[in-house]
Amino acid sequence: MAQDGNFWSGAAVVTGAGSGLGASMVQRFADAGMAIVALDIDGARAQETADKVKAAGGRAIAMGVDVSDRAAMMAAAKAAEAEFGSCNALCANVGVQQFGALDSLGEAEWRWVLDVNVMGVVNTVAAFLPLIRKADGNRRICLTASSSVLLPGERIGAYVASKFAVMGYGDVLRLELARENIGVSILYPAGMETRHLESSQIAKPADIPGAVMSQEDIDFMLSSRNLDTAFHVATPEHATRNLLADMAADLPYIVTHGDYRNELIERNEALLAAFDRGQS
Ligand SMILES: NC(=O)c1ccc[n+]([C@@H]2O[C@H](COP(=O)([O-])OP(=O)(O)OC[C@H]3O[C@@H](n4cnc5c(N)ncnc54)[C@H](O)[C@@H]3O)[C@@H](O)[C@H]2O)c1
Repeated sequence: MAQDGNFWSGAAVVTGAGSGLGASMVQRFADAGMAIVALDIDGARAQETADKVKAAGGRAIAMGVDVSDRAAMMAAAKAAEAEFGSCNALCANVGVQQFGALDSLGEAEWRWVLDVNVMGVVNTVAAFLPLIRKADGNRRICLTASSSVLLPGERIGAYVASKFAVMGYGDVLRLELARENIGVSILYPAGMETRHLESSQIAKPADIPGAVMSQEDIDFMLSSRNLDTAFHVATPEHATRNLLADMAADLPYIVTHGDYRNELIERNEALLAAFDRGQS
C-alpha cells in the first residue's frame, strides 16, 4: 500500500514547506507522484521547494503566506484550486517555538504562539478542507504536534500548551471526518535537525521583543526531560520515512522517533491510576 505511490493521487498541500520537516514531506509526496502546493511565510524558501519538485519533472506551486492570517490562507486555497482543482493530502505542519518559563512569558508571546500553532492549524484546515472534500481518490490530513505533548519539559510551556491544542483539535477532527472517509493523523516528531529556532526568530513579529530562546532555557528544557539527544534528535528525512504509509493506513498517531518510552508509560499509568481511583 501507499509507499508504492498507487494510494496517492492529485495534489498535496504542505505548510511550512520552505524548510525542515515540511520540505521533506513535500519530497515524499512528490516522489509518490503528487502535485505540490508549498506554503510558507518565507515565500522564497517555499519557491525553492517547489522549484526542486519541478526540476525533477513534477508539478508544484509555491506561495508566501502566514498561516495565522485566515484571509491569506483562504486566498491561497483559491489559488491552489485554480491550479489543481482539489487536493488529496494536507499537512498542517507549521509551528513556532518560544522558550521561556511560564511566568516570564508576556501576553504578546502567548498570543503569537497560539495564533500560529493553534489558529494556524485551524485556518489551514478551514481553507483547504473544501478542496479535500472535492477530491476523488484517497484523502488524508496530517497535523504536526510534537513529542513535547507526550514528554513535556520546562521552559517550553507555551509551545507545549499549543501542541496539546493541536492534539485535541486533531482527535475531534478525526472523529468528525471519519464518516467522509477522510483520515486524520497527528504527527509527533521529537527533536530534528532543522531551522526551527532560527525560522521561529525570523517569523516572530517585530513588535514582540526578545529572543525565542536562550542557552539557559535550552539547558533547563534538556535536563527536565532527561533525554539522550543522540536518540532523540534525527533528520527530517528520518522523521518522514514512514509518513505516507502511516497516513495511508489512517493511523491516528504517528510517532516518528524519540527517547521517552518509559516516561510515556509512567504518564499513562498515572492517568489510568487516576481513572481507577475514580471508579471506587
Ligand atoms: N525541530 C524540532 O526539533 C521539532 C520537534 C518537534 C516538532 N517540531 C514541529 O515540526 C514542525 C516543522 O518545524 P521544523 O522543525 O521543520 O522547522 P523549520 O524551521 O525547518 O520549518 C518551519 C517552517 O515554518 C515556517 N513558518 C514559521 N512561521 C510561519 C507562519 N506563521 N506561517 C507560515 N509559515 C511559517 C518557517 O518559515 C519555516 O520554513 C513545526 O510544527 C514544529 O513545531 C519540530
